[in-house]
Amino acid sequence: MKTSIRHKIGFIKNHAEFHVFDEEGGVLARLVPVNRKSLKDFECVASRMSDWRNLYADCFLTRFHATSERTEHWLNHSLIPQEDKLLFFIIVGNDIVGHIGLADITGESAEIDNVINNHRERNFFANVLKTVMALVFELMDIERLQIRYLSNNVRAVRAYQKIFGTTVIRIDHLKYEEKNGEGCFTVCSQGESNTDVRYLTSAVVRQEYDTSICFPHPLINRCGSTLNDERTLTDANQIAQTAPLPQLATKDLAGD
Ligand SMILES: CC(C)(COP(=O)(O)OP(=O)(O)OC[C@H]1O[C@@H](n2cnc3c(N)ncnc32)[C@H](O)[C@@H]1OP(=O)(O)O)[C@@H](O)C(=O)NCCC(=O)NCCS
Repeated sequence: MKTSIRHKIGFIKNHAEFHVFDEEGGVLARLVPVNRKSLKDFECVASRMSDWRNLYADCFLTRFHATSERTEHWLNHSLIPQEDKLLFFIIVGNDIVGHIGLADITGESAEIDNVINNHRERNFFANVLKTVMALVFELMDIERLQIRYLSNNVRAVRAYQKIFGTTVIRIDHLKYEEKNGEGCFTVCSQGESNTDVRYLTSAVVRQEYDTSICFPHPLINRCGSTLNDERTLTDANQIAQTAPLPQLATKDLAGD
């Protein structure tokens, strides 16, 4: 992975926070990156995330019983140290209503990952998605964003296709297997498939975002103490490129 994108990911993971705006510029929510500090700030988050993961088990490729301990371990030892991943809590008021992440961030492309939204308000999730797109295309300077979802997840299909469009660029066959009480869908050939469920991929490239999706509100809310609302995206980009790699990531990788 290129150093510049690594710097940006580290910077966003440890210092940034973004507002989700509505069409009139009102603030709907905040996207707060999951890091050691935010895990401490939001009490019982692992337990809430586990409850949601169990509630929506059918919406994901892997099926397992989530517990607070398992989620906490995953957050601290897998997600936070991982250099090509980001996860944001979606915060309304002071309440966590869900989360949305980015995975496989390479500098050229990224994938929306680990999405749960429990806040029912018209266009709310669409605006969350647009904010993540702004982050990807405007701040991180990435060319292509994709999302994958199960064909039988009606709410996800509708929610994603509202913003990504109805064109599905790839349809994969799946095989479902259970081992030690845990289930898993994996991509396979048509012949190996044992289910009607398909894995769908949609994508948006930067030009499509620029011409038909982006919205005119400022992306940057607050990036650590070095930025304020008057600073521009260019400033944020420069800081993201030159900021030292955060200490947190190094410490986390060493394990504790
Ligand atoms: C997928 C998810 C993030 C979308 O967020 P959302 O807030 O539901 O998104 P939207 O508000 O855009 O709603 C999606 C659409 O589904 C519709 N919908 C809601 N419940 C539905 C149901 N039970 N059956 C069919 N459609 C439903 C909504 O009416 C809406 O369509 P509309 O805007 O045309 O009326 C959210 O539903 C969720 O967290 N689901 C569980 C976890 C999950 O599936 N994660 C994604 C894994 S890829």
